[in-house]
Amino acid sequence: MKAVTIRTYGPIADVVTLSDVPAPTVGPHDVLIEARAAGVNPIDHLIVKGFMQPEGLAHTRVLGNEVAGVVAATGDAVTGFAVGDEVFARVDPQVGAAFAELVAVDESLVAAKPATLSFAEAASLPLVALTAWQALTEQSRLVAGQRVLIHGGAGGVGAAAIQIAKHLGAEVVTTVSTDSTESARALGADQVVDYRNEKFDEVVAPVDVVLDTVGGETQDRSFPLLKPGGTLVSIVFIPDAEAKKATWGVQANAFLMRPDGAQLTRIAELVASGELRPVVQTVLPLDRAADALTQVERGRARGRTVLSIPS
Ligand SMILES: NC(=O)c1ccc[n+]([C@@H]2O[C@H](COP(=O)([O-])OP(=O)(O)OC[C@H]3O[C@@H](n4cnc5c(N)ncnc54)[C@H](OP(=O)(O)O)[C@@H]3O)[C@@H](O)[C@H]2O)c1
Repeated sequence: MKAVTIRTYGPIADVVTLSDVPAPTVGPHDVLIEARAAGVNPIDHLIVKGFMQPEGLAHTRVLGNEVAGVVAATGDAVTGFAVGDEVFARVDPQVGAAFAELVAVDESLVAAKPATLSFAEAASLPLVALTAWQALTEQSRLVAGQRVLIHGGAGGVGAAAIQIAKHLGAEVVTTVSTDSTESARALGADQVVDYRNEKFDEVVAPVDVVLDTVGGETQDRSFPLLKPGGTLVSIVFIPDAEAKKATWGVQANAFLMRPDGAQLTRIAELVASGELRPVVQTVLPLDRAADALTQVERGRARGRTVLSIPS
């Protein structure tokens, strides 16, 4: 089958290729997905460059972390899915391998694709929506009536988080650059701060929760905005929790999202009820994966970049 692979870590243009590789083995609990689309995330270009990979690559690695497609086969122990079902998933990060014609995923990570979404739209959601869901409902326990500051509202996680926070009943403040102010409002943000022209820490009233998708000085300047007992959760940079608690009386943590088919089903329900919509910026064919990764690497996302995979 065709798949987007690397044989060694390095610059995208030098190491990313479309290759012929063996189809994945289907374990007893696996669903084999004939992929129609795969979302491209910052983690994908970081993997290409060897981020947090102390060892060299021992064998060819198939890239990609999320997929939408049609079930082509099921392992003997699979009970929840059948051949022909339309599904989507954030795949096991240890396995990856979503930029491929066939993708094997444990059924516990898979959910039924929302019927109203195209495959490209569905493939753009699992990683960002699960990250936003886990940040807001598990890490910070945001509840109705609270105020949340979401940094990077133009990005994949930020756009999902704005909508999920509104679903939870929160008042949402977000930071974006100038050309994304209208789209952030359209997603439901109550206050939109153009971070290039305004200092967010001068115009945002105290909040209960900060979701940090940016890190660096953006994270540092957010702590004084938290109400006593508030929580900053970061997906990019681990804060010094003890120091922040001592200085500001707040909770601070960072986490890595995890794949979860049951939560993805919940996210599909939000899509069905019209409370969550994907934001797709660009769809490119599988053989242009290097261009897609380069676009995501630039970091100026206005929605997710997605690879389409012909049936
Ligand atoms: N821990 C985890 O499990 C986890 C999961 C998912 C993602 N992540 C990480 O989280 C980060 C965001 O992911 P993503 O998928 O949302 O990335 P993305 O789609 O590439 O979006 C990044 C966004 O950040 C905005 N931005 C850059 N500097 C900013 C600033 N100073 N203030 C406000 N916005 C700013 C950019 O928009 P402008 O052009 O408007 O600046 C861009 O839209 C990445 O570093 C990713 O690796 C971590």
